[in-house]
Amino acid sequence: MNFLISFFILCLPALLYSQISENELLNRSKKLVKQLTVEQKIAQTCQVTLDALLKADEKGTVLLPIQIDEKKLNLLIEKQAIGSVLNVSSHTLDRETWNKILTQIHAPFRQGKTKTPVIYGVDAIHGANYIVGGTLFPQEIGLAATWNPSLAHKMGEITAYETRASGVPWNFSPVLDLGRQPLWSRFFETLGEDPKLASEMGTELVKGYQGTNPAESTRVAACMKHFVGYSLPRSGRDRTPSWIPERQMKELYLPSFKAAVDAGALTVMINSGDVNGIPGHANKKLITKTLKENWGFKGFAVSDWEDIRMLHSVHKVASNQKEAIIMAINAGLDMSMVPYNGPHEEYLKLFKEAVDEKKISMKRLDDAATRIIYVKLKLGLYEKQFEPWQSFTKFASAEFKNAAKNAAAESITLLKNENNTLPLTKNEKILLVGEAANNLIFQNGAWTHTWQGVDTSFNTKGALNFHQAMKNKLGSNLTFVQGYDLSMREGWETCELLNKDQVLSASKSADKIIVCLGEMPGTEKPGDIQSLNLCEEQQALVKMLQETGKPVILVFMFGKPHIVRELEPKSAAILHAYLPGDYGSEALTEILLGEVNPSGKLPFTYPRYDGVIEYYDYVNSETKTNKTDGLPIHPQWAFGHGLSYTNFSYSDLTVKSIPSDKGNEFEATVTVKNVGQKTGKEVVQWYLTDDFASVAPANKRLKGFEKISLEPGEAIKVIFKFNNKELRFYGKNDNWVVEPGTFKIACGNQISSFEIK
Ligand code: BGC
Repeated sequence: MNFLISFFILCLPALLYSQISENELLNRSKKLVKQLTVEQKIAQTCQVTLDALLKADEKGTVLLPIQIDEKKLNLLIEKQAIGSVLNVSSHTLDRETWNKILTQIHAPFRQGKTKTPVIYGVDAIHGANYIVGGTLFPQEIGLAATWNPSLAHKMGEITAYETRASGVPWNFSPVLDLGRQPLWSRFFETLGEDPKLASEMGTELVKGYQGTNPAESTRVAACMKHFVGYSLPRSGRDRTPSWIPERQMKELYLPSFKAAVDAGALTVMINSGDVNGIPGHANKKLITKTLKENWGFKGFAVSDWEDIRMLHSVHKVASNQKEAIIMAINAGLDMSMVPYNGPHEEYLKLFKEAVDEKKISMKRLDDAATRIIYVKLKLGLYEKQFEPWQSFTKFASAEFKNAAKNAAAESITLLKNENNTLPLTKNEKILLVGEAANNLIFQNGAWTHTWQGVDTSFNTKGALNFHQAMKNKLGSNLTFVQGYDLSMREGWETCELLNKDQVLSASKSADKIIVCLGEMPGTEKPGDIQSLNLCEEQQALVKMLQETGKPVILVFMFGKPHIVRELEPKSAAILHAYLPGDYGSEALTEILLGEVNPSGKLPFTYPRYDGVIEYYDYVNSETKTNKTDGLPIHPQWAFGHGLSYTNFSYSDLTVKSIPSDKGNEFEATVTVKNVGQKTGKEVVQWYLTDDFASVAPANKRLKGFEKISLEPGEAIKVIFKFNNKELRFYGKNDNWVVEPGTFKIACGNQISSFEIK
């Protein structure tokens, strides 16, 4: 009964609404825009942060607990009819407070005082991370390590449901930037280094967020971030220049966005940095030509934080603020995250002047406003802005927590397991060392309850850190010593060794020692780092424990790869947990104890040296750089690597051409068998290589993958179909080509050749 009532409340209006065709929606958007004055159209393109509407003291500091300032609300939302509001104030809010804020923000529209509803957006990037009690999933880098798109879909669905419970219908997620610069503070927000993996996982996040009808009150609009090339800053520092040749742009950085557009993503956020000298927000070729004209993106493009202003103040491509607005809007930007009260007045005024002076055409303004209103219609915001939080009965339910734990369990990657050190047995005496095991902030990372995620006071009640999860299972067989202390000093992470003697004396009675290595949470500029090297103190701790001769197991709670070259050889086992979220430690414990068989695979090439960043799709000339070991490249661990407590064998790889009038079509098959003693999941990875090509070909490229589950002794024949799309590359004459010649297909240890005539 309860379910039926919830269904009718949450889904029925949307079901009726979904009958409206795309054309009708577009026409309706256009009609609605026609009813707006020029000022109102401009206001639609303006986005302010929640603080702009809150009560503050004379110095502008927001008063706590936060409260909407009626005067500011009247001015910004009612009189100026601002189109969008974003963000949480300083920290996470409960659902009641969210609903209250949203009710106040929507009041002018509901009372007929404005013509257009506000669209509210938030960063719910690993679950509803700005709602008290929201279900926290692994960060995207961990999600990618599951190589299981259905888990991304689930995370999307649950995040959408819980985000809508707060009243917010728009999520600034997923990040579709490729993780190819591990120094970048936002590496953990990416889906790893590979375009295929990022496309498949990103697309499922989008589908999970939006469903088939984003107007359902359990769905949100997705926002593809950050279009495009943001993730490859040469310096490693956030919002600094990237240099990306056209070919790499097309082959590597654009595909995940293209796939998300094809999946119907409704909004996009623009790259704050510059690519090849052109700031993202001034890049007409990318925003208008590629995204809107070539790909047919129908939604709207929002700027990132203050980024129109930055065209003048930071990038120095516009000599004043008005020129910056003209440049960005004419490049195809539709909405400006201004986002402060005050500067927004200047934005509205200068935008109007630019229209009056015909520097921004009415056509462009209408297009921007139409796109924004189209998304608002798609979300059903004209009909109903949100449902009260009480109707979301599944919020933070056991079912949702289980899904988050499941995602973490499938992400955790067994990198090394010498002499079957793992799984542990319950009667073994374990010493657990490391601060990262002792607080939820280390397993969640940034964008958790607060922007940087370092404030421990908002930790989810009831969620277990690694120490607690282990204690629950092992009781008195577990000893914990903190070992080191991480903190931020003057903007940089510092680490201190603690209780050295206690650690050593505790190690004496331990059968095995687990060292949980970690990093301070951080993102964007505050998260910038100088080096990938793991801090000396954590290294010293591990080396000291390795000297004891007891088996040392390393657990990484890292959002980025830290260099562990000197620690790896003497470690008996290594598990990468990434930033697994609130339920990740329970999953980790179950893996350590063998209750769950690990099945995560690295979504990036794990570097061995701080100064040598390699990718799995290197070209042959790169293999000439290793003078000592003769290996093609020499990372710590390869992309796609991940062990299991069972073993899989691969056999009988075949590839055949299938007759088709659409060009080259192939079908490959391989048999995968579980030859060990435990049920396990394996990611079957398909790689293609063009042996010789007019542009130096990649060593291999991932073109397909599938996660399968096998009982001991069970074998499955896995099929992979591919065509020109997987065989092509961006050629010398700036077009996609498939060149005749020989190719290789590889899967597991199997390899076969085929020819294109
Ligand atoms: C970040 C975006 C985020 C936005 C809103 C920016 O600083 O770069 O990823 O969505 O803030 O919080």
